[in-house]
Parts: sequence; C-alpha cells; structure tokens
Amino acid sequence: MNQNFRKQIFIEFFSALFVFFLIQNTNQQVNLYYFIGGVAFFLSVLVKNHYWWHFIHLVFMPGIYLSSTLHIHPIFFLFGFFILFFTSKGAIKDQVPLFLSNKKTNEELYKLVKKYEPKSFLDIGSGISTTLVYLAKRFIDMKISGVENSYLTYKIGTLRLKDYDNAQVKLTNLWDTPLKEYDFIYAFLSPSPMEKLWVKIKSETNPGTIFVSNSFPVPNVNPETVIEVEGTNRKLYVYQV
Ligand SMILES: C[S@@+](CC[C@H](N)C(=O)[O-])C[C@H]1O[C@@H](n2cnc3c(N)ncnc32)[C@H](O)[C@@H]1O
Repeated sequence: MNQNFRKQIFIEFFSALFVFFLIQNTNQQVNLYYFIGGVAFFLSVLVKNHYWWHFIHLVFMPGIYLSSTLHIHPIFFLFGFFILFFTSKGAIKDQVPLFLSNKKTNEELYKLVKKYEPKSFLDIGSGISTTLVYLAKRFIDMKISGVENSYLTYKIGTLRLKDYDNAQVKLTNLWDTPLKEYDFIYAFLSPSPMEKLWVKIKSETNPGTIFVSNSFPVPNVNPETVIEVEGTNRKLYVYQV
C-alpha cells in the first residue's frame, strides 16, 4: 500500500465519520448534501487529485440528492452497480481503472511496432481491446494477445476481435500471465503497479524485449525513448529489457 493511498484511505475514513456525525445532528438534509460536496471538493484540492476529480467530488453528493428527487426506479441503480462491478475489477484490486488508448496513441504505438518488428505483442490489461483491434487490422502476420481481468470488458473485447484470427484475449490476471513468449509488451495501467510490473517483465522476458508504457513511467528506470503523443497529454515510455 503506497503512502498516497494510505493518506486517501485515512481522509476517506474520517470524512465518513464526519458525515455520519452531521447526519445524526442535523435536520437540514438538503444543505448537508451540498455541504458534503463542498468539503469533498476542498479535500480533493488538498490531496492534489487531478483537476477532474475536484469536479467529480464536488457534484457527487449533490448529484445523489438530486437523483433521489427524480424517483428513478432502483433497478437502474442496481444495473449501474453491476456494470461498474464487472468493468472495475482492476480498479478494486490493482488501482487500475478502465480508460482507453486514444487513436493518436495507437498511431504512435503502430509506428513503434513497425520499427521493432516483433513476432508477438501483448497488451497487459487490454480493456475492450481497442489497441488489439487497431494492431490486428494492420499486422496480420503478428501474434497479438491481450489479458484482461474484468469480465464485461473482456467479453466486449473478445466480440470486437472475432474477425481477427491473429488476435485473442484471455480473461486472467496479469500477474498470473507468463511473459516469456512476448517480444513486445504494452501497458496502459496506473502509477501503482509499475515498479512490480517492471520486476516481472525483467525476470520473465528475453533480452531485447520491448516494453511500452502509456503515460506511467517505471519509477527510477530511464526509458530508451519518450514519445510525446501530439495533441494529447499522453506520453509513451519505451524500455528495452
Ligand atoms: C487503463 S485500461 C487500458 C485498456 C487498454 N489497454 C487500452 O489501452 O485501451 C487498464 C485495463 O487493465 C485492466 N486490469 C487492471 N488490473 C488488471 C490485472 N491485474 N490483470 C488484468 N487486467 C487488469 C483493467 O480492467 C482495464 O481494463
């Protein structure tokens, strides 16, 4: 558990106690929702979350209150819960949520794959197979694989790949995936697993294997190259084992 994560858990715990205390001691329920939104916003700024988190924290509790006034059938919330649950295993276990490589990043990745001419490619945490589909179309002789541990994203990913014989995705945990057979590995995860992932890559892959991490560098390891993806705030960090 890293220090930042511990700090967040600590703040969340005391915030929850504080909210519980307020609920017990007020009859101004409506104002309380707005107040909690304001406090969450303040704490988000305090712990230096990304700016879009400030907005999410600000509107979350007021949003809950407003949605409760719309008399939406509870089944919709249950449905929403299941969608989140079956797409978010990575967020719960490894602090890696689902977000997708964009087209410009895939274009840059395509150039790198073309340059290194690997025989096999692995997207470690392949989401809904956005990158796999992009490459499977363009490298029909290359073995393209993905591993994904959230069921719904995996399922969507397999459907998107059904027309490509050279590509496949497995429903499994990346930490249980042997890496030896891959000579090009791509990851778009989060800062949290990068150090441990690099140890795994170095101990399991052959010398010369290329590892590209979208946005999240390996701590204390100098990349061979850093590619700025034009028109986005993304960077590709390229490492060679
Ligand atoms: C940021 S998304 C990237 C998706 C895809 N690689 C792309 O670039 O579009 C990270 C993905 O990794 C998956 N993931 C997180 N932890 C994982 C684990 N331990 N094993 C397998 N997949 C994992 C998440 O479910 C999520 O779909």
